[in-house]
Amino acid sequence: MKKLISSMLAIAVLGSFTACGSESSSESSSGSAQSETNGVINDDTKATAEEKMTEHIEDTDKTIGIAMPAQELERWNKDGEYLKNRFETVGYSVELVYSNNDPDQQKEDVQALIDKDVDLLLIAAVKGNTLVEPLEQAKEKDIPVVAYDRLIMDTDALTYYISFDNYAVGKLQGEYVIKTLNLNNPENKYNIEFVAGDAGDNNALYVFNGAYNTLKPYIDKGVLTVRSGKTAFEDVVTTGWTTENAKANMEATLSTYYIDQPLEIALCANDSTALGVTQALESTYTQGNQPLIIGQDGDIENLKNIVDGKQEMTVYKNVNDEASVAFVVCKSILAGNTPAASLLGDMPVEVNYDSGSYNNGKKYIMSYLLVPTVITKDNLQYLADTGIYQWDEEHKYLDFAK
Ligand code: BGC
Repeated sequence: MKKLISSMLAIAVLGSFTACGSESSSESSSGSAQSETNGVINDDTKATAEEKMTEHIEDTDKTIGIAMPAQELERWNKDGEYLKNRFETVGYSVELVYSNNDPDQQKEDVQALIDKDVDLLLIAAVKGNTLVEPLEQAKEKDIPVVAYDRLIMDTDALTYYISFDNYAVGKLQGEYVIKTLNLNNPENKYNIEFVAGDAGDNNALYVFNGAYNTLKPYIDKGVLTVRSGKTAFEDVVTTGWTTENAKANMEATLSTYYIDQPLEIALCANDSTALGVTQALESTYTQGNQPLIIGQDGDIENLKNIVDGKQEMTVYKNVNDEASVAFVVCKSILAGNTPAASLLGDMPVEVNYDSGSYNNGKKYIMSYLLVPTVITKDNLQYLADTGIYQWDEEHKYLDFAK
């Protein structure tokens, strides 16, 4: 019976890979600014990869400890759900914990997983540098540690990092602004403000740098003006990436610098911060124009705002794909291998391997980086095609597929 259930699950999972995997690799825009060693899989290898993904592992008694930051931030629920499914489908046990976005709690939660002697730790850190102590013990116990989405800093217990190319996320945001507002015409002049993520999350800096470095030439030329003068990452961070902090920060900026001047672009690190900016505009802004709001993630509320013209775009990272790549890497580690570039052939989606860019303060971490995609009101169907989202009855708004 157990076998039958797992083969049925396997078929269901396989179906979802076929739906989203092929979309991601054919339509996504590439931009791995930092990759040293790249490798991209092709369609022939994909079928075998998908078969391998769902191969049942006989008699495994291995347990994966998965630590996610918080359930309040939309995406992590999906990540947790997909990861758990993926591992359980082939026969592993999973201990999944969420830590209320609290670094101290996550430290305890990770410690508890180590005390239970899990066979592998897959962690999306709340804060990059607060897991040094428990991970020291993980190393002593030979428990492999894999960083999921966010790099874990200051520890040599970490070997692998699986994420989307975060610099590319910011770069896509910047490039979108250049194209949409035709910044190459020097007669065009716009006011822009940046909203970054949490200072303790390494991703936040990469996303900010990707966007800022792409737009800096236009700031230097005077095509873009940052009226607040806040052009350094530290000046624009949003504690916890939360909507309410982003709202408060933007309200302060609007009521100081945009009383008699229009804000034309708010380049936000992700959708929860973009939502805060939209709310700040509603509460505090009186200039009448709709600024171009840029985000990341494809959160439901933001997708509604895109349909309603309150947000311009979001950079989408298919978390199902990210979970699948994490799964392939972890499975290989648990089989006693040392995954490297050669594992790209087993990936169900387009991935770049990079062993020379992500240094966590102790060493370079072997990294698998997926490729993000720009979503605007014109290609929302892309999201429905992943199978993760579905249209409502009027075919107006998207929600998560049931
Ligand atoms: C992730 C983003 C997410 C943010 C807030 C980042 O590390 O890469 O996708 O929006 O954290 O949860």
